[in-house]
Amino acid sequence: MYTFWQTVLLEEYTYNGAPFPPHARLSVDENHFNQWLNLFAQTVDTLFTGDKANEAKWRAAKMAQMFQHKIAYFKNNPLNIL
Ligand code: HEM
Repeated sequence: MYTFWQTVLLEEYTYNGAPFPPHARLSVDENHFNQWLNLFAQTVDTLFTGDKANEAKWRAAKMAQMFQHKIAYFKNNPLNIL
């Protein structure tokens, strides 16, 4: 998780995994992602301010949106697993 954000925000390429697969078959919906985003934003705001803090929240929201689309896709196309 640390290396993921280090790579995304600081362009220090320490993460070489694939963030989506662990989420592909989770039984989560928009409400869970909204809650995740609220907790993420609260945590960022507690610990950081500034451009990188704003970028972290913006990127998290974009990725949450993308994860939700992909989760829905795999639900509707169960044969195309990962
Ligand atoms: C409802 C929302 C979410 C749930 C329930 C969730 C749950 C999980 C779970 C169960 C794992 C696997 C942990 C493990 O292997 O021990 C994981 C890993 C991870 N998640 Fe999420 N996640 C959520 C949202 C997000 C979002 C929005 C992001 C990106 C901004 C994210 C980024 C990651 C990353 C980078 C990993 C590690 C992947 C790796 O092992 O390479 N997650 N998450």
